[in-house]
Amino acid sequence: MTKVRVVSLTKNYGDIKALKQVNLEVEEREYLSIIGPSGCGKTTLIKLIGGIVAPSSGEIYIDEQNVTDTPIEDRNTGYVFQEIALFPHLKVNENVGYGPLVKGEDREVNRRQVREMLDLLSLEDQASFFPVELSGGAKQKTAIGRALASGSKLLLLDEPLGMLDLKIRNELRYELRKLVKDLNLTAIHVTHDQEEAMSISDRVVIMKAGEIVEVGTPRKLYIHPSKIFTAKFLGEANFLEGKVEKIEGNYYQVNVSGNKLIALGEGAVLKENEKCVLAIRPEYVKLNKKKLNEINTWSCYVINVSFIGSTILYNIITDTGKKLTTKYILTENEPDISVGDKLYATLSSEHLLIYDYPHEGLDKALDLE
Ligand SMILES: Nc1ncnc2c1ncn2[C@@H]1O[C@H](COP(=O)(O)OP(=O)(O)OP(=O)(O)O)[C@@H](O)[C@H]1O
Ligand SMILES: [Mg+2]
Repeated sequence: MTKVRVVSLTKNYGDIKALKQVNLEVEEREYLSIIGPSGCGKTTLIKLIGGIVAPSSGEIYIDEQNVTDTPIEDRNTGYVFQEIALFPHLKVNENVGYGPLVKGEDREVNRRQVREMLDLLSLEDQASFFPVELSGGAKQKTAIGRALASGSKLLLLDEPLGMLDLKIRNELRYELRKLVKDLNLTAIHVTHDQEEAMSISDRVVIMKAGEIVEVGTPRKLYIHPSKIFTAKFLGEANFLEGKVEKIEGNYYQVNVSGNKLIALGEGAVLKENEKCVLAIRPEYVKLNKKKLNEINTWSCYVINVSFIGSTILYNIITDTGKKLTTKYILTENEPDISVGDKLYATLSSEHLLIYDYPHEGLDKALDLE
């Protein structure tokens, strides 16, 4: 069943078009993340679903019921705000248990559930602290506890882990997903962190400038993004402008500054002589000391090496002046490469993504504004 459906949802703040005719369906028990650049409308979208803000036009359905005009208290959602909103005069345990208690939950049951929640979030020791006495992370955990304790089947989480240290964040994100799955909840989780989005979600929504760009499983969006902006925003990618010279089956021969590149363009609808953009993830650009391949291979120089821990990034410049980033996983047989080395870079045809040249220009299409 569809848990949440928004239809042609629009929100204007004066001249600012925060949401432009957004359509989205979230399945029951789905864990859905929303990511996109700052100001693209993520918070606006979940505030509209939660009833915190009213739309300019469009409709919102929860459990197939039209709730567009339903007040916030009747929507029954658990909400974690981006800017943490705890009751300052209540202690941590009281903040967490507040919702169910005012709805008439038995005191003893409430106390037990709050204790379980605090235990889960490792907040037991701070149960009797007031919000002012908490770190940013503990405040955020209290807010998550309160949303979970609301008993709602729909959780709306706006950057719920944003204030936490990386280590706790990584732990808690799996806890959060497990909770949602164990309790048969549906979660819509806004985040800036693409790794967080990909690792916990059934599907990810990519937004840009008030619109949904693409929705899909993390794997689909990372490996076969349909939109050029998805390739840019989710993970890293190298982009090359070119022109289609020849099409043979699903293979496109593309001229990039006088060099031929072959790309497997399954599902692409380009024609010969059309301008296009090629994109490739850094891990699919392979470096060799010898020219092992003729096709899709450029001679290049290494201009920078960045050691990131589990991966190493190499920035290269080709003879034709193209700057590319390549990425290797740190292994025992990592290539022995230094700045200034002359190498050959091969771009795997199977992983070269091909797109129509964007009508607004490549820079604008990739712009994060
Ligand atoms: N109450 C408001 N009054 C006026 N403009 C607003 C209001 N709330 C949001 N906006 C504007 O609407 C647009 C979308 O804002 P929103 O908060 O939804 O973005 P966001 O994607 O959540 O950004 P961030 O990642 O920084 O949290 C922005 O241009 C923002 O300035
Ligand atoms: Mg926001």
